[in-house]
Amino acid sequence: MNKEEYVSLIDGRDEETARYLFSLARKRREEYYGSKVFIRGLIEFTNYCKNDCYYCGIRKSNRNASRYRLSDEDIISCCEEGYSLGFRTFVLQGGEDPYFTDERMCRIVSEIKKSYGDCAVTLSIGERSRESYQKLFDAGADRFLLRHETADFCHYSMLHPENLSAENRQLCLKNLKDIGYQVGTGFMVGSPFQTTENLADDMLFLSSLKPSMVGIGPFIPHKDTPFADKHSGTLELTLFMLGLIRLALPYALIPSTTALGTISPIGRELGLKAGANVVMPNLSPPSVRKKYMLYDNKICTGEESAQCLECLKKRVENAGCQIVVDRGDVYKP
Ligand code: 5AD
Ligand code: FES
Repeated sequence: MNKEEYVSLIDGRDEETARYLFSLARKRREEYYGSKVFIRGLIEFTNYCKNDCYYCGIRKSNRNASRYRLSDEDIISCCEEGYSLGFRTFVLQGGEDPYFTDERMCRIVSEIKKSYGDCAVTLSIGERSRESYQKLFDAGADRFLLRHETADFCHYSMLHPENLSAENRQLCLKNLKDIGYQVGTGFMVGSPFQTTENLADDMLFLSSLKPSMVGIGPFIPHKDTPFADKHSGTLELTLFMLGLIRLALPYALIPSTTALGTISPIGRELGLKAGANVVMPNLSPPSVRKKYMLYDNKICTGEESAQCLECLKKRVENAGCQIVVDRGDVYKP
């Protein structure tokens, strides 16, 4: 599909086309992954961040954020608990925190891989040099998540301060892919100033990058950011984009994200029904969960957490799928 086709599809959407899109999306997902849903244990290990993205609750200028870092031991014990719950992928996610040098990160990654050799380690730690990405890969990291946020350079500059660029972001993604990571990218739906053309460009960007994973979620304002008064993205448009992504990249691993679960109590079930096939429950220690607040009202009551896998299983079954104990690598023919 070209840009104009995406624009008219997105602008012309209605309930009926959405229903049809989701049924096609489910069918495509099934061809590659059956009714399996893969689970990832999310460990939010630091909320220190040197960046100042206008949308993000843990941006460095937010003096109200109460900052924390997990120790190596804390992180390993999250993995230990996660492993016994059935998780075979651990996602280490954090702000861009210079405390976590290559040396520290490599040590943590290799320690996890030593103890849990049958598990995948995913990093979500932002922009670093190619050399740094290479070292982390050599230490055993399997996957890397780095959302492109918006493919349009001009839109990117409206969401970020001047020291951050879409160009460098996309260079990082290229480097990660070249090194051999399974790469995940993605964007926010309904972020401030976003146009339908931007979303069409995001689709074209995904089609050319061909990432293994794509994470999208609605933009949700955070009260202590410059975007406090902006509107949230909608559930409806986020689900529609999810369906389109499944058709464009039928082999992709697509999470039904926490942000979807935050704007609607059944958001994550609806995400699965629109073509998603991954959920990422929180494995972070309960004491820090409220501190990793990227946006207002982020769900962290316990029900979405890894410890409540039973509730999650029921939700996934309500969406016609089953959770599996599996690394859940990307489909390779
Ligand atoms: N609303 C929704 N998503 C957000 N993220 C950051 N801030 C927000 C927000 N206010 C997303 C970004 C980032 C990911 C970790 O969380 O896309 O890449
Ligand atoms: Fe950039 Fe949090 S400060 S995403």
